[in-house]
Amino acid sequence: MWILSLLMILILSSLTGHQVVVMADDAVSTAKANSLDSSLQEYAYRALVKPKIGTFYNATTQLPSNFTGVTLAALRLRSGSLRRYDIPNYNEFQIPKGLVQTPYVKRLVLVYQNLGNNNNWSSNYYPLPPNHTYLAPLLGLVAYNGSDLFATNLSHLNLNVAAGHPIIVRFRNVKSPPPGTLPKCVRFDLFGASHFTNVTGGNTCSTFQQGHFSIVLQYSTPPPPTITISPLPSP
Ligand SMILES: *[C@@H]1O[C@H](CO)[C@@H](O)[C@H](O)[C@H]1NC(C)=O
Ligand SMILES: *[C@@H]1O[C@H](CO)[C@@H](O)[C@H](O)[C@H]1NC(C)=O
Ligand SMILES: *[C@@H]1O[C@H](CO)[C@@H](O)[C@H](O)[C@H]1NC(C)=O
Ligand SMILES: *[C@@H]1O[C@H](CO)[C@@H](O)[C@H](O)[C@H]1NC(C)=O
Ligand SMILES: *[C@@H]1O[C@H](CO)[C@@H](O)[C@H](O)[C@H]1NC(C)=O
Ligand SMILES: *[C@@H]1O[C@H](CO)[C@@H](O)[C@H](O)[C@H]1NC(C)=O
Ligand SMILES: *[C@@H]1O[C@H](CO)[C@@H](O)[C@H](O)[C@H]1NC(C)=O
Repeated sequence: MWILSLLMILILSSLTGHQVVVMADDAVSTAKANSLDSSLQEYAYRALVKPKIGTFYNATTQLPSNFTGVTLAALRLRSGSLRRYDIPNYNEFQIPKGLVQTPYVKRLVLVYQNLGNNNNWSSNYYPLPPNHTYLAPLLGLVAYNGSDLFATNLSHLNLNVAAGHPIIVRFRNVKSPPPGTLPKCVRFDLFGASHFTNVTGGNTCSTFQQGHFSIVLQYSTPPPPTITISPLPSP
């Protein structure tokens, strides 16, 4: 059977050139990103010891030392809370009311991830298309079943903005782009596809989905080696 599959791949490769390889690479990086999500979910849940509903738990100290530069948090909510209440300041995320999670769970946990600015986590786990570079850290927001806080390898819940306002992501440290270039918001969905939209106000992206977000720059010449970081006033 595998000989047949191998033959198919060879035929496909010879027909479509390197496209097959690109798809394989994508599958590999999606699997890597999913396994990072799994680890981060597990570490985030460790911060939830007798957790209060609706309280932000900083889970950064739960991370082993090889996660230097990564920031993690967890927020446990009752089912239906996201539909009725907004969350104005979950770090960089401003979450409007009106979100619906499926399937039904009694409790859910929103895991916040920040892969950091000055390490290679973002580009290692979320590689960008050619000629793109990160201007901000990769931030993640993922919802999980929060009934069993010892659960591992959970799959994410579906989270949908039922009506009205999007989720706002206001990045704190955006490297200033070279003059004349147009930074873009990128969202990696939980199945590995990336989506590009416009940045507003220099540091803000909006989204109707959970996932992983950053601000990136597409360049046609190599970016200048010295890009200054301009700290933005906190909201
Ligand atoms: C969480 O804790 C880490 C380490 O103590 C700290 O660097 C980080 O700023 C904290 N994050 C938040 C959002 O409080
Ligand atoms: C970090 O270290 C832990 C053990 O301390 C290991 O299980 C894990 O695979 C490592 N993760 C990464 C991303 O290097
Ligand atoms: C990031 O990767 C570059 C090249 O791939 C390497 O030179 C640099 O040391 C890495 N930085 C960190 C903090 O690991
Ligand atoms: C959520 O977790 C609880 C406890 O493990 C389980 O009983 C329940 O079936 C789970 N719900 C879903 C939708 O996976
Ligand atoms: C995690 O769950 C997925 C399916 O949801 C499964 O394919 C994978 O083997 C599981 N990994 C571990 C380490 O249990
Ligand atoms: C994004 O920005 C570009 C350049 O400013 C503009 O031409 C385009 O219409 C914008 N797209 C959306 C969807 O706003
Ligand atoms: C990508 O960047 C290289 C130089 O770094 C440039 O030669 C090439 O034209 C760029 N390609 C695109 C599609 O912008």
